[in-house]
Amino acid sequence: LASIRVDVSGIEPGTQLTVKFLGKPVFIRHRTEDEIAAANDVDVSTLPDPDARNANIDAGSPATDTNRALKPEGEETEEWLVMMGVCTHLGCVPLGNGAGDFGGWFCPCHGSHYDTAGRIRKGPAPQNLPVPTARFEGTEIVLG
Ligand code: FES
Repeated sequence: LASIRVDVSGIEPGTQLTVKFLGKPVFIRHRTEDEIAAANDVDVSTLPDPDARNANIDAGSPATDTNRALKPEGEETEEWLVMMGVCTHLGCVPLGNGAGDFGGWFCPCHGSHYDTAGRIRKGPAPQNLPVPTARFEGTEIVLG
């Protein structure tokens, strides 16, 4: 299977990069402490989609921030969020950089709001933005 490597050493906290993988956009965001705190400050049982939707962990795992995020080996905090940039409603590309009512992403097609962990919080989208197969190798993220 195809895989790509993305050097993320230049992505400052509070910024993100969109790369194409297998023809689809993938969002790679280096989150701030405030974004991580906001994502942790949510009762998972109240989420529209309580499933982590993370290809790297067991299916059906709860949608905690830890279960959605990625970190380099040896790092303490889950600063990185890697997910498909495809709205789970009808496939538009959500806007990022703090968009929407929950400071994460907003899909302008029909108004879906995703939070700072990419979880659906409001609007017609049924699922969290999926986390693809990804891992850190040094300062690179390997997708696929
Ligand atoms: Fe995103 Fe409909 S495609 S809200």
